[in-house]
Amino acid sequence: MNFDKTVEEKYFLSRIQKRRVKTREDLKVYKEIFDKQTLFALYKLIRKKQIDRIGGVINSGKEAVVLNAYSKKNGELAVKIYRTLTAGFRDRRIYITGDERFKRFKKNVKSMVYLWASKEYKNLKRMHQANVDAPKPVTWVKNILVMEFIGENGIPAPLLKDTLIRNPAKIFKIIMENIKKMFLKAKLVHADLSEYNIMMWRKPVIIDVSQAVLITHPYAIDFLTQDIKRITTYFNKKGVETKGPQHYLQEILERSEEEQK
Ligand SMILES: Nc1ncnc2c1ncn2[C@@H]1O[C@H](COP(=O)(O)OP(=O)(O)OP(=O)(O)O)[C@@H](O)[C@H]1O
Ligand SMILES: [Mg+2]
Repeated sequence: MNFDKTVEEKYFLSRIQKRRVKTREDLKVYKEIFDKQTLFALYKLIRKKQIDRIGGVINSGKEAVVLNAYSKKNGELAVKIYRTLTAGFRDRRIYITGDERFKRFKKNVKSMVYLWASKEYKNLKRMHQANVDAPKPVTWVKNILVMEFIGENGIPAPLLKDTLIRNPAKIFKIIMENIKKMFLKAKLVHADLSEYNIMMWRKPVIIDVSQAVLITHPYAIDFLTQDIKRITTYFNKKGVETKGPQHYLQEILERSEEEQK
């Protein structure tokens, strides 16, 4: 890893490298994501013993890289590092309009990226408190989110789309229950729910929630409708006879109204 940067950065990097266990040697990815602030943030997490060792790259997407990590304090971890160096970052401002939690954010790219990490952390926390099956959040610093690892021994659980499920009707039911809990208890709508953002680890586990919105968001119901549609379509194709998206949507909205009375 030759970053050719300051002594300070080299120092952080050497400390981080020492903590690295066997990886898939995805040095290109490391180089792409570890700018100075990210290194600094990662080092802070190491100092605070939230992370002891950093493992391999699990996924390198357009907007974030997910690494495997470990600490004595937290066990096996997933570390999601949002890219700050990528140009053309998807404009996600629509997901925070009207959200009281993020009233005063700055509009530059870096601040926006930091916001996604904190928003994903906060959303995961709400989901956890509402008993929705999602990775337990541990902490976040700048563009880094640390959460429970879904999988074992550095191997992530498969995504729903790659899983051959024996009982699709049952899995469909559990996912719909999670959507319901997310809306009624966590007061959130995922807004990008599909077979790509559900991992299968004994049960379905919902991931990737930086864009999830509060139910008071002006488009919350539209997002919810789309989420339900994607899930019902997927399970229809797997041979599950669903009652149609409208039915599930209605059920959630009616319950929500009842609870507000
Ligand atoms: N908590 C976790 N434990 C284990 N693996 C995880 C965890 N969170 C995410 N992953 C893995 O990393 C991948 C990407 O995560 P996520 O969907 O949150 O990011 P993303 O930015 O949407 O990436 P992409 O653009 O590739 O979808 C997931 O598909 C999954 O394989
Ligand atoms: Mg995703």
